[in-house]
Amino acid sequence: MPTKKCTIKTLLEQLLMYKREVVIGNIIAILATFLVALIPLLIPILVDELLLGKDHGFITFVSQHLFTSDTKGYVFFVLAIIIVLRILSTLLSILQTKIFVSISKNITYDMRVALLEHLKRISLKEFEMMRVGAVTSKLVTDIETIDGFISSTISKLIVAVLLLLFSAVVLLGIHWQLAIFILITNPLVVLFTVKMARSIGELKKQENKAVEMFQSTLTETLELFHQIRAANKEDYFFKQSKQKAEALKEHAVNYGYKSDASQKFSSLVFLTGYEIFRAVSILAVAYSDLSVGLMLAIFSYLWVMVGPTHDIINFQYVLSSAKAACGRVESIYEMEQEPQITQSSDPFTGKHAIAIEVKNLSFAYLENKDILTNISMYFEEGSKVAIVGASGSGKTTLSNILVGFYPFHTGEILYDGVSNKTLKLSTIRENIHLILQHPKLFNDTMRFNLTLGKHYSDEAVKNALHIAQLDDVMERLDLGLDTLVGKDGIKLSGGQRQRVAIARMILSDPKVVIFDESTSALDVHTEVRLFGALQDFLADKTVITIAHRLSTIKSAEHIYVLEDGVVVDSGTPKELLEKDQSYFSSMV
Ligand SMILES: Nc1ncnc2c1ncn2[C@@H]1O[C@H](COP(=O)(O)OP(=O)(O)OP(=O)(O)O)[C@@H](O)[C@H]1O
Ligand SMILES: [Mg+2]
Repeated sequence: MPTKKCTIKTLLEQLLMYKREVVIGNIIAILATFLVALIPLLIPILVDELLLGKDHGFITFVSQHLFTSDTKGYVFFVLAIIIVLRILSTLLSILQTKIFVSISKNITYDMRVALLEHLKRISLKEFEMMRVGAVTSKLVTDIETIDGFISSTISKLIVAVLLLLFSAVVLLGIHWQLAIFILITNPLVVLFTVKMARSIGELKKQENKAVEMFQSTLTETLELFHQIRAANKEDYFFKQSKQKAEALKEHAVNYGYKSDASQKFSSLVFLTGYEIFRAVSILAVAYSDLSVGLMLAIFSYLWVMVGPTHDIINFQYVLSSAKAACGRVESIYEMEQEPQITQSSDPFTGKHAIAIEVKNLSFAYLENKDILTNISMYFEEGSKVAIVGASGSGKTTLSNILVGFYPFHTGEILYDGVSNKTLKLSTIRENIHLILQHPKLFNDTMRFNLTLGKHYSDEAVKNALHIAQLDDVMERLDLGLDTLVGKDGIKLSGGQRQRVAIARMILSDPKVVIFDESTSALDVHTEVRLFGALQDFLADKTVITIAHRLSTIKSAEHIYVLEDGVVVDSGTPKELLEKDQSYFSSMV
């Protein structure tokens, strides 16, 4: 079994790569905490020594070693110390946060980059089954959860434990019986509030889920609005959104009053616990030797202990949600990748075109259900070959395989004699350009859609547009090449989008071109003009054309006929037309 890439162990290993920063950050955090940990003792001691005449030795120490003064002087002195300590502690804790935040953000950045790298190489088969929303949410929300875990582990846990220990020692030193009572009951009170907050968190999650459901149903409805209206199904689809809105309302009401009730309830328990501690402390003053000043100190430490106790109790929840988030992130790593092939030679270098030989190729999307069976074809260097066949016969599947989109296990494809098994997929795609029937455009400028970010001279772009019969279209675009084409190229017609894809191919200047019904949306005249203009450009390239239109394939030198994934015949157009008219019967 492959080793998992996201577990608590791997996170800690990643953390260890920042060992130095983690150590420095923790030292600063401990300093910041201990600078203020003594503060709750100072004022109560003054109360005892200055107001109640009970000696703890503090004033004696100050007057012997520092200075002597009256009550006012000592109070201001202690106040000044407290303020300085608080300022120092605040500055240190800002520094500490900066260190910890940059560690956790660096780790999560690395995780995101690693995931993106994995996604970049994902196999097309996996991609087709992928729920894009789920993947993006893993990259955002789950990584954030992990970020929370890392930052709370490294920045809070050690300090929380130390602060709690320190407070426990001070309390035990002041009054051990009372300290034991507090040390047992305080965590129970905090545990109760944490549990309450958790159950409310669960309700909030349900509400968020309801929001998500409502949002996705509505988005889908609006995205397919055209279709829905055409099918006269507005009532049905909007009713679904309404149902989701209703569920959302119920969850929101549930969360709304229960969260308020639970907050009030948990603060009731917390404050009651606090009052009980105070009452018990007063009893301790009355019936034992606890001084009033130290009683006040105990009150302060009660507050000091709440934060760290909460952090420690909460840690198990942070840990379990980080584990769950890691599990979800891991499912991205489990997605199959394209095979990484080591390449020994590149058959494309220095060539205008290459020959492709398909040998006994069989392929299935799902096991045992062959879509292509024992296909053998030969595309001579620089030849113009067509593939025809009824809808569903496997033409698109074959063209996808020729550019390495789907791995296959039976048969072989030789690119100028070099086997697909020894050729990098990126090399194949760099040199063989597949133009799809429904090309996807980016919601970006026309220029970007043509160049996909690569630099071409204006002249080259203009030439490509000219060959692709897009001159007229460009003239009508208000900002020319800088015009945004809209979502999925909505501002362009289907045939215009196909021509943009062809212009893109012209710019990339491949050695083999596969047209998979790439001109199906064009009228016959435009198509004839387009292929006329393309003639020179394609002259010395290997060209494979898949089309349902007789006019498109008539000029081919050779034609293969596919039926249910099997090559049933081949020959020149003339031979085939003479032999069996039925091959072309469905063509126009
Ligand atoms: N991604 C996929 N997963 C599973 N089955 C698929 C997938 N793509 C296509 N098929 C199936 O493979 C068969 C061949 O489809 P293909 O798209 O290759 O046919 P085609 O000859 O290009 O048809 P058309 O002329 O309609 O474009 C069909 O039965 C189809 O249902
Ligand atoms: Mg097809």
